[in-house]
Formats: sequence, C-alpha cells, structure tokens
Amino acid sequence: MDQVRIGRFIAEMRKKQNLTQRQFADILGISDKTVSKWECGNGMPELSFMQPVCNILQIDLNELFSGEKLTDADYKMKAEENMMALIREAEKGKKNIVGGRVLGCADHVKLSVSEAHKANTEFWSTIGSEFLGATALPSWGAFFPSEERLKILGELSGKRVLEIACGNGRSLEYVANLCAAELWGLDISASQIARSRSFLESQGMDARLVCSPMEDECGLPTEYFDLVYSVFGIGWTTDLDQTFRRIHTYLKKDGTFVFGWSHPIHKCVSVENGRLVFSNSYFNEEWYCADMSDKKIMLSNRMMSTYINALSNNGFLVEKLIEETDREKAHASDNDFGRKALMLPTVFVIKARKL
Ligand SMILES: C[S@@+](CC[C@H](N)C(=O)[O-])C[C@H]1O[C@@H](n2cnc3c(N)ncnc32)[C@H](O)[C@@H]1O
Repeated sequence: MDQVRIGRFIAEMRKKQNLTQRQFADILGISDKTVSKWECGNGMPELSFMQPVCNILQIDLNELFSGEKLTDADYKMKAEENMMALIREAEKGKKNIVGGRVLGCADHVKLSVSEAHKANTEFWSTIGSEFLGATALPSWGAFFPSEERLKILGELSGKRVLEIACGNGRSLEYVANLCAAELWGLDISASQIARSRSFLESQGMDARLVCSPMEDECGLPTEYFDLVYSVFGIGWTTDLDQTFRRIHTYLKKDGTFVFGWSHPIHKCVSVENGRLVFSNSYFNEEWYCADMSDKKIMLSNRMMSTYINALSNNGFLVEKLIEETDREKAHASDNDFGRKALMLPTVFVIKARKL
C-alpha cells in the first residue's frame, strides 16, 4: 500500500471538492492534523473513516487504495492488487515487539487510561514477570551493558532514592547494597508492592512503598530525592509528560533521573528467517492492546524524540543517552534476539538532571 501516493490522491480529491483540510476534518469530526498526516503519507484513515472519506471525495474504496481514479479497464486488476496489499498490511500491523518477543496479535486501540491501568495491573499482578521477564539492577536489559560497568547511577552512599515501577523489589535491594540512605518504591500493582515488601523485609531492608499509577498524585514528598530511577518502568505510563512533571517535583534541585526502556527502533524490526525486517513504522505511537496468554497489556511505542522532548519540556537536562549492545553477551546468545542486538540497540538508558 503506497501511503504517500494515497495521501497525495486524498489531497488532490479534497481540493477538487473545494475543501480545506480543516473543512474536510470538520465533516469527519477529526482534527486537521490527522488529515495532514494522511496527506503527507504518514498514516491511513482508520477503518471506520474509509467509507466516509470516499463519500466526501466522491471516489470508491478501490480508488482510495490505488491512489488514483480508475477506468473500467483497470478496475478489476487494481481490486486484486489492493486486496493482496491489504492482507499483507494486516499481517504487518499485527506484529508488535514487546521485550524479546514478537506478538502476533496486537490491535491498535484508542487509549483509555482506566482500561490501560486495569489491564496492566492485572498482567503484572499475575503473569507479568514470568511472561515478559523481570529486569532488575544491575541489569538494564538483555544485551545491554550492566550497571556494574556503566555506573550511571553514580555514588549512592547516603542518598535518598526512589524507584518508579519497582516491581518485585530486586533493584531496590541493589541500591540498598550501594548504601543508599533511604529506599522508596512506587508501583501500580498492590501484588508487586507486596512482593517487594516481603522480599526486602526478608533481606532485612527497610523501604517505603507506595501503590499508585506513576502518573497520579500519590503523596510522595517533593524536593526530597537525590535520585529517581526506573528499570523497564517508564514506558508503562499513559502520560509521559505528567509522569516526568511529577518526577521533577520529587527530586531535589540538581537531582538525577535515570531510566531505561526498550529502544524504539527495536520495536520496528523483526527477525524473519534469520533476516532483519523493518516491520513497524518508527513514527507509529498509537496505543495497542496485545494478548499475553490469558491476560492483556496496553502500551504504545514512543519515539526517542518523544522521551527527550518530554524531559526537556518538564525541566530536565539530558546528560547522557546510552544506546549500546554488550556484544560479548549478544554473540554468546546464539538466538534471533541476540543477532538483532548486534545490529541495533534493543534498550536505551537516559540520565537527566533536574534544572
Ligand atoms: C517490567 S516491570 C519493572 C519493574 C522491575 N524493574 C522488574 O523488571 O520487575 C514493570 C512494572 O511497572 C508497573 N507498572 C505498570 N504500569 C504502571 C503505572 N502506570 N504506574 C506505576 N507502575 C506501573 C508494573 O506493575 C510492573 O511492576
């Protein structure tokens, strides 16, 4: 499906109807940004808009997918071509990469914060760690250099430290052993908080644990922490700006924020028959819902610029962005994920300072 060609065709036919992007968008009840996105070839009308778009532009679906007006002579051939392209497109759209897995059944959805929180909490309270694997310091993720080598958290002795999305508490144990003075953790799942609590108690460690979505006001002290960090936690937020704004308030001036997450380029490339195939658009930040065994997760893939700009817009200075693969580990792995990690970053870590 040639989105650029289709976009140009939409623009041409819209102008033929003497409509501005805004007027066209108003009739459809959407924003003119969406129309501009289609016309620039950066997306297609969603299924529910396809017929209304055709009606307004006085074209049919076959012409929309072909990106041109069709004569009777080429109508049938184009219909078959378009049908095949649609089937291929449907296959592609269902490839979503979470952690090291390619999920075959991820559908784009409109974000509902309450549904995302419900689904993700249920997932992490039950099968999350076993299904996606827990990642705890000193690991920042598979095939990524470990904290023992990076030392990106800096000197922790005597520091007040908060972990966002603390999961089962293993990373808090790691920072406790680096002599942090105070340990705090936050997680949306009461079961994860309970796991953290009992694990840390079993290690004779004391932590203050708060059960809340990271996006929400939850009574954490402000201007208090020297370090806020998160290991595969931040990407679960439904509101990146709000989350960074809150983290900014928890930190003391010049305090440090370090987080790691799945690298956005990793989400775009799948391994098919030993070859790397670019299978998802890097620009696609739509929310999707994916089946994970008998549970669901709701997530979106964010571009690197989205993270960097959200930090900058919320009072942080980015000090370091690490995109690296531990080549020794990746070479030793002898699996597709490892082979992929030799070609592109699968994890990133950002260190930022509160201004
Ligand atoms: C991959 S785990 C990260 C924790 C830890 N590093 C680990 O690997 O176990 C993701 C954690 O994020 C939590 N989480 C998901 N959505 C959240 C949200 N909106 N706010 C706070 N925590 C959230 C989950 O409950 C889960 O414990």
